[in-house]
Amino acid sequence: MAECSPEPVPQSVLSPLTAAAIFLVMTVDRDGEERTRALLSDLNGLQRAVGFRASSSGQLSCVAGIGSAAWDRLFSGPRPAELHPFRELTGPVHRAVSTPGDLLFHIRAARPDLCFALAAEIMERLRGAVTVRDEVHGFKYFDVRDLLGFVDGTENPVGPVASAAVLIGDEDPPFAGGSYVIVQKYLHDLQAWNALPVEAQERVIGRRKLSDVELDDEVKPVDSHVALTTVVDPDGTERKILRDNMPFGTVGEGEFGTYFIGYARTPAVTETMLERMFLGAPPAAHDRILDFSTAVTGSLFHVPTSDFLDDLPDPPGEEESETESETGADSPHVHTDTVLLGQTRAPDDSLGIGDLKGK
Ligand code: HEM
Repeated sequence: MAECSPEPVPQSVLSPLTAAAIFLVMTVDRDGEERTRALLSDLNGLQRAVGFRASSSGQLSCVAGIGSAAWDRLFSGPRPAELHPFRELTGPVHRAVSTPGDLLFHIRAARPDLCFALAAEIMERLRGAVTVRDEVHGFKYFDVRDLLGFVDGTENPVGPVASAAVLIGDEDPPFAGGSYVIVQKYLHDLQAWNALPVEAQERVIGRRKLSDVELDDEVKPVDSHVALTTVVDPDGTERKILRDNMPFGTVGEGEFGTYFIGYARTPAVTETMLERMFLGAPPAAHDRILDFSTAVTGSLFHVPTSDFLDDLPDPPGEEESETESETGADSPHVHTDTVLLGQTRAPDDSLGIGDLKGK
């Protein structure tokens, strides 16, 4: 009789929105691989150590993501099938830049001190082995609003719909229970935004500002944010991602932003949303939100399961003896540069909507 292996335990991708978050994006320095692996193995224990003191009301969680270029430096064995570098998009007016990122730490908690304490523990172990490329401390703003003043996160899937949208399944068995995440840091031109009457702002987003109710299809502009980020398959199925956006800012410098973070079972769904936002979807030229928000970073990561972190594959170079027989000669151990542009789309490519421009 075949033995049932237990379901892989995901990282806390499906944790609820919290009042505080820290986003850390790093690159692994030359010779920093060993310490990075040691930190990843320790991550679950570190979360428990920092979080337990605050009890479950602290809601501390941390999700670690690993970028395409770092994967082969850190691990032997198969690669996640859809892991590739973030694809830059250059539209006629707006650009989604691709910026360096080997590691992402998405730390969430009900209190900023918990996020801070865990971030400090992570950094303590990685100092000298990594370069921090971006650090953003996000906060909950009134009733889950972004700094444009709109409620952000309403249409997020919940329960089993969220799990199905976010967690890898049978399509990539070695990585089942994992996920993909795309992050972008956006800076808002609040002066220009606040100069718009509220009704005009509502037409940019596609929802009412105070009540958060979605505009009727007859009045919702085709280039509104909601219209362009609603992605529907030919069979009518709506494709969902899970967003955990956070506002951030430094008032002295006039910096006001939204940190976009979107988890999905396949990065193709989020990429389609980005294509529609930046390259347009006729008759919409581009997402109007981009006329007030500039993307200054962009990176893509695979989020392995919690089990993966507890029991990392061997580092590269040590696989021959132990794992060759398990993975087989044709394991999907693909080099980063060979998985660019269109090669990792869903097999039916049903989400394709035009060419990617730029890199
Ligand atoms: C919806 C804000 C970037 C995907 C929304 C909503 C707001 C918002 C206010 C409406 C309420 C809701 O359902 O959450 C922002 C801001 C952004 C940003 C301020 C950055 C400046 C993005 C990006 C993506 C995205 C980059 C995807 C690549 C979505 C999706 C929805 C949504 C899927 C729900 C659409 C629906 O089903 O109605 N966003 N967003 N957003 N956004 Fe964004």
